[in-house]
Amino acid sequence: MKGITSKLDYIQQLGINVIWLSPVYRSPMDDNGYDISDYYHIDPCFGIDCDMDDLIQEARKRDIKIVMDLVINHCSDQHKWFQKAKADPECDYARYFYIKEGVSGGPPNNWRSIFGGSAWEPIEGSTYYYLHLFSKKQVDLNWENAKLREEIYSMINWWLDKGIAGFRLDAITYLKKVEGLPSFEADGADGLVSVSHGSLNRKGIEVFLKELKERTYGRCHAMTIGEAIGIPEEEFMHFISEEDGYFSMIFDFSFCDLNLNPPNNFWYEIKEWTPDELKDRMFHSHRLADEEGWLRVCMENHDQPHWIDHYLPPEGRNYYGATMLAAMFLMLRGTPYIYQGQELVMRNCAFTSIDDYDDCSTKNQYHRAVQEGYNREEAMRFIHAQSRDNARRPFQWDDSDYAGFTAGTPWIKVNENYKEVNARREQLDSHSVLAWYKELIALRRYSKYSKILTEGSMIPVFCDVENLVGYKRVQKEDCLTVLCNYQNREQKINLGKPIKMVIKGKYSMGQIYGNLIRLRPYEAIILEMRATAENKSKAGVEVYEKST
Ligand code: GLC
Repeated sequence: MKGITSKLDYIQQLGINVIWLSPVYRSPMDDNGYDISDYYHIDPCFGIDCDMDDLIQEARKRDIKIVMDLVINHCSDQHKWFQKAKADPECDYARYFYIKEGVSGGPPNNWRSIFGGSAWEPIEGSTYYYLHLFSKKQVDLNWENAKLREEIYSMINWWLDKGIAGFRLDAITYLKKVEGLPSFEADGADGLVSVSHGSLNRKGIEVFLKELKERTYGRCHAMTIGEAIGIPEEEFMHFISEEDGYFSMIFDFSFCDLNLNPPNNFWYEIKEWTPDELKDRMFHSHRLADEEGWLRVCMENHDQPHWIDHYLPPEGRNYYGATMLAAMFLMLRGTPYIYQGQELVMRNCAFTSIDDYDDCSTKNQYHRAVQEGYNREEAMRFIHAQSRDNARRPFQWDDSDYAGFTAGTPWIKVNENYKEVNARREQLDSHSVLAWYKELIALRRYSKYSKILTEGSMIPVFCDVENLVGYKRVQKEDCLTVLCNYQNREQKINLGKPIKMVIKGKYSMGQIYGNLIRLRPYEAIILEMRATAENKSKAGVEVYEKST
């Protein structure tokens, strides 16, 4: 905690105004803090309780707000509520959870947990089982129980009173389980079925979400970001409409798992995908959010591999690829989130042994792959590409030991590239990717274009052009066009009328010939145009086949 406070100047200089902290509550850390054993205290591995107060205050001095992660679908098996429930599965606390008798010597139903195996764990010395949608150390809370809901609301209000600006609501669309918790037809050779059938965005969840908002953050209009997986399109606006949405915004995950097969998303079932699929999905979410909803736009987070390795082919994993992706996402409509180190282009890095990984989901995916008949080498290849530990590495501050992250020993190895990739080095280089992030954020927040970039609508353009992500930000007569050449070869675009001005670009500002613009491999450019009818109708495209 003190570490973050000491780096607030760096965060402020980047142009950040809100920090979302992954869970820092007391936790046995089975799932990186997403297993909370005490909601009211900071885990000793992050500091002491007053370090959090200092962080809130110091951040406030710099106009930075603090948003906490709120994990209320489940708590740790070490939480005192569960300890009491386990000791007496018929006591009041047992009703805070889903505790049921087994059936014919087995679990109460055939649900498969998100982190693998049955979603039910036996309670030792009894005939009872408890439900866990995630790991067996993350016990699902029973939201049907009004007493439990009251405990949660008091806790949320306690944090709001402390000066927290809001919450990111973890796994929030899993709160409601289908009545009776029935088995469903198996969807895997293990005879189990994804928990999503009985627990993901089930009917009745709206009652919980409305009450939760009314009793807590809704009263003070705090910022809320829902990790709202699995919402059908027709319900999108219930979650984010400005007027009465359950949350201020939700994550757009539409393209994150492009390479996986839902609902199980096993890492051994990798699919090919194209930049055009990514853009179609991304624009589709924006169309759904329309003018009245608001999205949280992000491409990296603690559950994803680093985006340069995830969204670019090997030939694009360079300075131009990184700056192109940054422009593509930082100009979108919605609130952009930058995951720590994304601005430095921190990279995935592979361990040779599964034992070196810390993440419970990584270990589970490895065992699933081995169970499915892949040999250890193949299983490790899936882990290297997808592991959540790729992004969960110590931040690379400088080239000293452990990348300047700690004077102690970090919980996981530092990426060995820290001598080349680190904040200090990039701060000294005016052409670094870090410098590009600062420029783009400043354009969004402090320039004469701030209004278009925050409030303006978003209109996809050149949608049929292969490997080109293009969109306009429009407000009244003003219009900016963002063009991203998502490929390792050039292409020429006919914009239909002369460009007024190049606002930002890489490759020394693109090449413009009258109405034509030549985009080089992985080039991104931001142009100022006039929003006229002519502008909309005359646009066309010419694709050069030249490879580089
Ligand atoms: C969310 C978090 C993830 C965590 C899971 C269970 O998806 O982002 O990191 O493992 O919930 O809490």
